[in-house]
Amino acid sequence: MNKWVSITFVLLSTAFLLFSWNIYRDEAVYEKKPADYDAEMQKQGRLVWQKYNCHVCHQLYGLGGFLGPDLTNVSEKGYHYVDAFLKNGAASMPAFNLTEEETNQLFEFLKASNASGSSNPKEYRKLWNGMIEQ
Ligand code: HEC
Repeated sequence: MNKWVSITFVLLSTAFLLFSWNIYRDEAVYEKKPADYDAEMQKQGRLVWQKYNCHVCHQLYGLGGFLGPDLTNVSEKGYHYVDAFLKNGAASMPAFNLTEEETNQLFEFLKASNASGSSNPKEYRKLWNGMIEQ
């Protein structure tokens, strides 16, 4: 192998390893919130989320449709807040006739997304080293 190819390979591998180390060393960015949800119910809740196609208009972790707001952390606004939207709908959101059980499961699912991520990337600040800060 040509000497310069080897040198480039070693340099890029070292850069990759250093950057990876830098990313994973900074635990604060990945700090999770306490997971105070029922794991079995949240699994059912994911099926409810899929069944009623919430993702067509809403995002989780920034991914999904963009007609409605990101719902990653909406559970922080409380059960009754979410329930009110589901029962009544809003300007561009239809009302959903969920059973109480479905609403409870869906809310556990939203609590799980809240525990595992943050929405609204606009609130992140980029640092000099490519990391972000909330
Ligand atoms: C056809 C598009 C559409 C679908 C499907 C939809 N929504 Fe919405 N939703 C919206 C829009 C648009 C808003 C914003 C309404 C407003 O603020 O006036 C909204 C608002 C909300 C809010 C309030 C968010 C906040 O932060 O204030 C919640 C909670 C919500 N939706 C939950 C759901 C859930 C759960 C589902 C699936 C069962 C769902 N939506 C399906 C369009 C949709």
